[in-house]
Formats: sequence, structure tokens, C-alpha cells
Amino acid sequence: MELFYRNRRRAIWAAALESKVPHSLSLWLAGVILMLSSACYAESHSWLAPCAITITPDETTLYVACVRTPAVLALPASRGAISKAFPLPGQPTGFAISENGLIYGTCAGYKGFISVIDLTNGTIKTNLPARPGACAPLLNPATHQLFVCNQFDHSLSVFDLSGGQELKRIPVGREPVAAALTPNGRGLVVANLLADGPADAAVTTVSIIDAVSLTLRTNLALPSGGILPRGVAISPDGRWAAVAHQRAQFNVPATQVEMGWMNAAALTLIDLETLSRFATVLLDSPDRGAAGPWAVAWTNDKLLITHAGTHELSVINAPALLTKLSSGEVNEDFSFIDAFRQRIALPGQGPRAMVVRGDQVFIASFFTDTINRVTLSEKPVVTATWQLTPNDPTDLAREGERLFNDASLCRQGWQSCASCHPDGRADGLNWDLLNDGIGNPKNTKSLLLSHQTPPAMSLGIRDTAEHAVRSGLRNILFALRPEAEARAIDAYLKSMQSYPSPHLVAGGLSPAALRGQKVFTMAGCAQCHPAPLFTDKKRHGVGTANTHDRPGGLFDTPTLVEAWRTAPYLHDGSAATIQDVLTTKNPQDQHGRTSQLTAEQLADLAAYVLSL
Ligand code: HEC
Ligand code: HEC
Repeated sequence: MELFYRNRRRAIWAAALESKVPHSLSLWLAGVILMLSSACYAESHSWLAPCAITITPDETTLYVACVRTPAVLALPASRGAISKAFPLPGQPTGFAISENGLIYGTCAGYKGFISVIDLTNGTIKTNLPARPGACAPLLNPATHQLFVCNQFDHSLSVFDLSGGQELKRIPVGREPVAAALTPNGRGLVVANLLADGPADAAVTTVSIIDAVSLTLRTNLALPSGGILPRGVAISPDGRWAAVAHQRAQFNVPATQVEMGWMNAAALTLIDLETLSRFATVLLDSPDRGAAGPWAVAWTNDKLLITHAGTHELSVINAPALLTKLSSGEVNEDFSFIDAFRQRIALPGQGPRAMVVRGDQVFIASFFTDTINRVTLSEKPVVTATWQLTPNDPTDLAREGERLFNDASLCRQGWQSCASCHPDGRADGLNWDLLNDGIGNPKNTKSLLLSHQTPPAMSLGIRDTAEHAVRSGLRNILFALRPEAEARAIDAYLKSMQSYPSPHLVAGGLSPAALRGQKVFTMAGCAQCHPAPLFTDKKRHGVGTANTHDRPGGLFDTPTLVEAWRTAPYLHDGSAATIQDVLTTKNPQDQHGRTSQLTAEQLADLAAYVLSL
């Protein structure tokens, strides 16, 4: 079996590499990448998964960073054939290329790092230590600085490139994932993926940073329900920042998807002079959602947005839009944007990364290893489609991940499973799904370990996760889909691996977490949350019912694995932190014996739970 996979992947790589490369070299490159990928990833991945793309200033070469086969690939911009591969020693989240020919590839992990690679010979010059979830690197050539978002450290690092040391770490909002620098290099705008606070007061922010003094100027709130910003771009005059995000109406019962009733795609424009929100417009059409807004670019006169859920590109007439907008209100009219925008369907699935040079736009689709070139003009068109690897229909987990992120499964394309479960985890919001009645919203659950820990849903009303997947397709996406798709989604969710907690120290528990581990047993937590899954898979009353719940209602014990990334907590998202779960939400010791614990013991216990 092992040999079968190796041979198959070798064949795929040999086919993918440019035909001009001598056969021996192509096999060598394929071999290097195979070695690296098999060390890091499950045997079944023969998939590149491009997550970032850039082009050289002379417009000759495209570089693409790939997650599942960790490497930066080079392709001639005129042809979609891989000419070189620079293997990375970890799973890349993004990269930047300096004028002097160095790749700065951010790699994720419980302690992220930045791999610095020489473009001339592919050697790794150094690996700079970074923070957990390092991503979205940006170079400031004027100051010789590198900015890196630290998704799981909720901070932005500034590195001095001459010495390679971290100059400053600036706290930003929750889970920063995208950043853009103003043309004069003096301002930086950072998009934070998730909201802070309890679910009923969730606010997602955009952090605006003074790139000279390296200080936070403000955390600006997206409009209510604004969530999952993935991309940010700045206008050529430096006046405006454009942030593409989702608009979630989590406060209404989930009875329909039409007209963005649950999720819509949105664009928020920020005035960088007054540091205020200028306007938010919806990006869907009245009868056709444009789900999964992802990358944003701003050319001289166009705003470009990829829609990773519906596999499209929006091309917006930016000056005309700016003229029309005069208030900071959300424009709720779904027919508004179509006067300024063209929707271009892109072959492939999951367009996430984009780069523009002149009138050429290159877009990489994550799930199908496709690169599309769109040529901008009066009528923008796809002028080339390059398939970097063949699709592999036998990889059920990959197929499931693709479907999970695909909003074209949904009635009218309004949302995908990933619209509420980004990366298979949770959006942090409460939704009033109808499976357990109306008027009792529940916090979205992470799907890590769902299949391994039945029953499903916080009331346990679905006996298995398989059952929940099928009812999700039917009752949340409002679609009748073939059973084979549900089975593929099951396979994807079962294949999800937990991400090591950023609270670990050298891969192990910190001293505080080690003390907390003892408190966990002492306070009776382990009784219902036993290792290794940290759930007894049973229902209990632990004093957390609210006025919308049935009195004395029982809740399914959730796993605590990855609790560090699933705030807010409890079935109704009413606890913003683990400390809240243990204190204000547990006044009578119905949820473990916590009332007698000292402040230090509570902090240690929280440190332990956050390390799982
Ligand atoms: C509108 C937001 C939303 C969308 C879209 C969505 N979900 Fe969910 N999902 C939730 C919420 C909220 C819960 C928790 C409900 C509860 O606890 O009662 C949940 C729970 C689940 C669970 C149970 C997890 C567990 O361990 O108990 C599964 C499985 C699941 N969703 C799968 C899916 C799949 C598959 C899709 C796409 C077909 C999907 N969801 C789409 C909001 C959503
Ligand atoms: C009697 C069984 C039981 C005991 C004992 C128990 N738990 Fe729980 N735990 C639950 C249940 C049930 C829930 C779900 C409650 C809800 O959703 O409102 C839960 C929820 C949680 C959550 C929220 C997780 C999330 O993702 O929302 C945390 C954190 C937690 N427990 C930690 C602890 C700690 C720490 C202790 C020990 C002090 C403890 N639990 C003791 C059953 C128990």
C-alpha cells in the first residue's frame, strides 16, 4: 500500500513538473517534496493546497506556497508549469519575497517559525523563531522590517531583517490572519478572524497600527455580525482600507438562507484618515449568494474580491462605489453592489489567494490546485486555467473538506458548513437552529472529535455526528445532497487532527498547567472530562441552563481538547473565558468543586484546560 501511494504521488509530481526540467531533476525535486510531505502529512495527501501567491516585479515568475505539500513553487507567469520547488520544513501559512531574493515563509505550529530561503539555490538560510500560528508575512522594504500576524497569539510581530530579531510584539484582536501596508509604509491594517467576548456581545475587530512607532492606534469594530475577515487591501492613495468578511445574522431563527438571512458576504471600507468605518456593503446578489469572501486586492481603479465558497471573483469599480457611498451604514440592499460589480466564475474550487500585476490577476484555488489568470478590461475574463496536479477522487477526506467549504452545495450559494465552522472549528457565535426547537440559541461547536464523541449537539439530540452532518446539509444548507457527499464530509471531519495548544512550553505542560492538572482531578473535573477525549460522552445538569432552556435540562459533556481556541464556552456561549466557566458560571459547585479553590488554583486549572 505504502509503495502504491509513493509511486502514485511520484507520478503526479513528475507530471506536474515542467517538461523542460531534465527528468532526473524533476524526480529529484519530486523526491525531496515527497520526503518532506510524508514526514509531515498523512500518506493520503497528494494535494498541494495553494494558500498564498505572489509575482516577481518583472512579472516573469509566479510563486505559490502550498500547505499540504509544504513548499514554495515557482511557475513562469506565462505558463502553468512548475519550474522549481523550494521545500519548506513546516506547513506554510504564507510567504513574502524580498528584493534581494529571499523567501520568508511563515510556518504554523505551537511555536511558529519563519523559514528564510535563498531563491538562487533553495537553501534554508535560517529559521527565525516566531509565535504560534505565524501567518500573513509582510515586508516593509523601506525600514527593512517584516510584519507577521500570530493567529494563535493574538499579536503582530515586527522583525528587524538585518539582525533577524523580533523588535516588538503588538497585541491585536482575536486571531489575526491578514494584513496590508499603506503605500507609504507608515500604516498597517490587520484583520482579526474571530470575535472577542461572550456570544451575545461578540465583536470582531480590525487593528490599525502605526508602522513607524510600532504601536496600536485602534481596534476598530466591524459592524454587528461582521465576522471571519480573511482579506484586507488598501487603496493606492492610502486613504481607504477594504476588508472582506461575512455578515452573520446570528440573532434570528435559522428558518431560511435566502437574502442573507443567516450569512451574507460583505465588504467594509475603513477611512484611514479618521480611523472610522466608512461603509459596509453586501456582496451577494438578491437570489445568488457570494459566500466565503476571502482575498482582497485594490488596483488603480478596481477592487477585487475572491469568493472561496462560490468560486468566483468580484471585480468592483472602486471610484464609482466610493462616490456612491456617503454614510457609514450597512447597505442592506442586495441589488446595490451589482451596479458596480462583475461576478466572474472561476474554474476550480476554493479561490483563496490572489495577486495582481497590471491588468493580470492570478488566483490560486485551494481545493483543486488550480491557478486562474483573469485579464481585467471592460469585461474581465478568465484567460488561462492551469491545473497543477490532477484531482484525486479516491481521497475521501480531501473530497469531504472540499465539500465542507463549498457553498455551491447550499440553496442559492449563501453559505457552506465552513461559514459557521471555519477550519472545521467554530465561529464563536450563537445560532438558533431549529433541531431543538425555536428561541434557544446555541453556541457553534467545533467539529474536532465530533464523530468520536457521540451524541452530537449540546443537548445530545442527534445520536451521532453522522446524523448531524446529514441534518446540517438538509436543514442548514437547505439542500438535498447525495449520501456520498455526506460520507465524504464524515471522512474529512474524522480526519481532523488537534492542533497543539499554543500554551504548551517546549511541547509539554507549563509549570502552572502541571499544577492545574492536579487540581483538575481534585475538583472532580476528570470524572466527566476523562482523558484522552476529555468527555464521558454523557449528559449532565451542571447548573448552566439559562431562561431559554428547559428547566433541569441536561447537556452533553463537551470535549476539552482545543478549548484554547473555542471561546466562548458553554452551550449558550455565555462564558467568555475558562475562568468564567469555573467562577461566575459555577456558583454552587454543580460543575466541579471550584468554590473552595484559591485564585492561584483557579488560574492553574484554567492554564491546564487551555493546554489540552
Ligand atoms: C449557521 C451556522 C452553521 C452552519 C452553516 C453549519 N453549522 Fe454545524 N453547528 C452549528 C451550531 C450552532 C452547532 C451547535 C448546535 C447545538 O449545540 O445544539 C452545530 C453543530 C454541529 C455538529 C455537532 C457537533 C458536536 O460534536 O456535537 C455537527 C456534526 C455539525 N454542526 C456539522 C455541520 C455540517 C456538516 C454543516 C454543513 C452541512 C454545518 N454543520 C453547518 C452551526 C452551523
Ligand atoms: C458532572 C459532570 C461534569 C463535571 C464534574 C465537570 N464538567 Fe465540565 N462540563 C460538563 C458539561 C455537561 C458541560 C456542558 C455545559 C453546557 O454546555 O452548558 C461542561 C462544560 C465544560 C466546559 C466548557 C467547554 C466548552 O467548549 O464550552 C469547560 C471548560 C469545562 N466543562 C471544564 C470543566 C472543569 C475544569 C471541571 C472541574 C472543575 C469540570 N468541567 C467538571 C460536565 C462536567
